[in-house]
Amino acid sequence: GGRRRLIAGNWKMNLDHFEALTLVQKLDWALRDAKVDLDAVEVAVLPPFTDIRSVQTLVQGDKLALSYGAQDLSAHDSGAYTGEVSGQFLRRLGCEYVLVGHSERREHHGEDDALVRSKILAAVRHELAPVLCVGEGLESRQSGDHVAVVLAQLDAALEGLGADDVPGLVLAYEPVWAIGTGETAGPEEAGEMATALRGRLETLLGAPAAQATRILYGGSVKAESVAEIVAVPDVDGALVGGASLDPAGFASLITAAH
Ligand code: G3H
Repeated sequence: GGRRRLIAGNWKMNLDHFEALTLVQKLDWALRDAKVDLDAVEVAVLPPFTDIRSVQTLVQGDKLALSYGAQDLSAHDSGAYTGEVSGQFLRRLGCEYVLVGHSERREHHGEDDALVRSKILAAVRHELAPVLCVGEGLESRQSGDHVAVVLAQLDAALEGLGADDVPGLVLAYEPVWAIGTGETAGPEEAGEMATALRGRLETLLGAPAAQATRILYGGSVKAESVAEIVAVPDVDGALVGGASLDPAGFASLITAAH
């Protein structure tokens, strides 16, 4: 209770500049048409780095009630790190959120727990809310050690940190087997993990921080499935990939979630 729902659209490596602007504009119109109460449900988009400036211009220029952020950041603040994008750049562009440790980063870019932890700290240094992504692969789900695997990811990401070190922290539980596959964890599975995560957050950060932290579910969330997922007591929203790329569809999803 008391946690504002968050629906975040992770565009991944999709859309061009024109499509990005069109999507944000149409999404705003659709949310106004549907009279979505954005105080009850916060909506965020997470474009590729190259489209954040455009999204900023539109959101700030037209005073749209949308939040935005990035899909990754460097663990470093500035310097000789060719190709990296730092948290301070993102903050200057008005980003509020940044994904950290998405399974696609862990899998394709070798991000380990230590790097994920450094990136969480880099986000916080620049007043970005880190959205820490955790989730088990198909093998752990099948062998039944999924809860232990995911809690171990959380432990490692927050090792040595307290509530004051991670203001604004958001968790995203994304079972890897459910990402982009059409497979989705049911409300029981999502609820089991969200409750376990909140319990572990209480151990790590204390009860007030655990109660304040929003826990999202991600993995093939669609307009048709989002309502039953966000109805789960410990699930506070969704991290949406594919279904966030179409403005009308994403607006329906948000409407169904609020
Ligand atoms: O960050 C988003 C997730 O990876 C989910 O992607 O909704 O396309 O399965 P998806």
